[in-house]
Amino acid sequence: MELVEAIRTRRSVRKYKEEPIPAQTIRELLELAVWAPSGMNTQPWAFVVVEDREYLKDLSGRAKTFLLERLRMMPQLEKYRSMLADPGLDIFYGAPVLVMIYSSKASTTYINDCSMAALNLMLAAWDRGIGSCWIGFASGIGNTSEVKKELGVPEEYALVAPVILGYPAGPANPVQRKPPRILNWRK
Ligand SMILES: Cc1cc2nc3c(=O)[nH]c(=O)nc-3n(C[C@H](O)[C@H](O)[C@H](O)COP(=O)(O)O)c2cc1C
Repeated sequence: MELVEAIRTRRSVRKYKEEPIPAQTIRELLELAVWAPSGMNTQPWAFVVVEDREYLKDLSGRAKTFLLERLRMMPQLEKYRSMLADPGLDIFYGAPVLVMIYSSKASTTYINDCSMAALNLMLAAWDRGIGSCWIGFASGIGNTSEVKKELGVPEEYALVAPVILGYPAGPANPVQRKPPRILNWRK
């Protein structure tokens, strides 16, 4: 797939086939993710791959509880209250793989760096017919000491990008883009 086509056609996928992604393919995607630029070439990213379905189901439930308990502090998420309270909602949409991009906080640009690695990962996945979606709902729970301990992540690391991967089970929702808002083009 052409790069421009991948950029234009990648969509967040929220319906997945059961089919697992071969381990070799996941490795290739991680290898492509790390070609992202990073501030002072610090390459601060560190990955956790979760394929354990029971763990994903459990993590989804814990993520919803975590958010519901804190919604009053996050008014912008209030509109998701009833959705998060739905016991049937799997925040990972049944995806077979969750890649969590963590980072040491030593670098001042780690959020930018890991976000770019995440986009590389999502575009490289799309190029291979694999759908993805960044799951911000998982950020809070993934940053708890409890989850970091369970996943062998050093306590001082932060979760930047939880990204699900899997083979799409149908077309993604079409979304529009506003044209670029150019504030100034000074010559
Ligand atoms: C930081 C971030 C957090 C996101 N969190 C979620 C999420 O928790 N659940 C979800 O379904 N989509 C989530 N998304 C996906 C966005 O909703 C999606 O990218 C946006 O609607 C544009 O659609 P597209 O990716 O198909 O172009 C997130 C995207 C980003 C960049």
